[in-house]
Amino acid sequence: MTEENIKYNAPTEVREIEVLNSYELEKEAGKIVPKGGYDYISGGAGDEFTLKQNTKVWNKKGILPRVLADVEHPDPSTSILGHDIRAPFIMAPIAAHGLAHESKEAGTARGIAEFGTIMSISAYSGAKFEEIEKGLDGGPRWFQIYMSKDDELNKNILDEAKADGATAIILTADSTVSGNREKDQFNKFVYPFGMPIVSRYLTGSGKNMSLNNIYSQSKQKITPADVRFLKEYSDLPVFVKGIQSPEDAVLAIGAGADGIWVSNHGGRQLDGAPGSFAMLESISKAVAGRVPIVFDSGVRRGEHIFKALASGADIVALGRPILYGLALGGWKGVYSVLNYFDEDFKRVMQLAGTQTIEDVKNTNLVDLN
Ligand code: LAC
Repeated sequence: MTEENIKYNAPTEVREIEVLNSYELEKEAGKIVPKGGYDYISGGAGDEFTLKQNTKVWNKKGILPRVLADVEHPDPSTSILGHDIRAPFIMAPIAAHGLAHESKEAGTARGIAEFGTIMSISAYSGAKFEEIEKGLDGGPRWFQIYMSKDDELNKNILDEAKADGATAIILTADSTVSGNREKDQFNKFVYPFGMPIVSRYLTGSGKNMSLNNIYSQSKQKITPADVRFLKEYSDLPVFVKGIQSPEDAVLAIGAGADGIWVSNHGGRQLDGAPGSFAMLESISKAVAGRVPIVFDSGVRRGEHIFKALASGADIVALGRPILYGLALGGWKGVYSVLNYFDEDFKRVMQLAGTQTIEDVKNTNLVDLN
């Protein structure tokens, strides 16, 4: 395909949106996001078994309704690595927001900052740091890295992220090659714009390149030494993201990880893996409170946030639902989605008799099967 014949018309509208639930959001976004972009965002690997498990697996645990609990106006605010946030959720790192909306990552960043939580900036962002800053306006941000095979280039990237104000580094460790994204192959999906942060280690800008091609040019042989390198060079806390086994959590902490990010990449990498939530409790036991835990993959309702926190997560990260909000209403759409999760979660807190996040974390869930 030549550059000329790739025309990608991302949605442009900026408006508040009504959010009934995140499943409806996905359907609505599917009507306005071009097919290649929508399939890329919404799709998973292989049979999409893991993608589907991510939302089914919540049904393995129940939340007991509690009464006479003396609860009113539950307080969902919390803090993580020194940041006070008004609810226990942040933006998950996601590539190429420009597929969802013309405002790209700057739109997401503005919604996130106006709401009052943390933005994760992906190394595969389609916008530059300074463009994202226009939306963030000084708000807190973490930087997610896909490492180059060349550590000098990794140092340059870390320097830029630090100069931009990142307060933590997220090492995505589960994507040493791309998962089997059959929808993308069928659509012959290539990114319609470049990736300015990592273009220094790609054969091109990122534009017109497939994810397979881009991942193959990033680093495959990631080891505990990379965690130490990122931490020592950046002098920032490092999360290891993509943890799905207690053993790997212990390995990451041994390498100096300051946080464990439990995720199966939204079912986009290894298909056949269990739903991410199925692994949270055992990972949390292995971590034993030594470092904070972020959870993602399949969080679609307030109940899910509650179950994740009651199973050992300190906060959750929201991915696709935020991007659908961006598609449907730009930064205002993002803000609407965050408000939806806030309201939904507070309702669950109230009905489960929990006044604070500490109460949620101390709640015992019931095994359902
Ligand atoms: C993806 C990568 C880029 O899942 O995070 O598409």
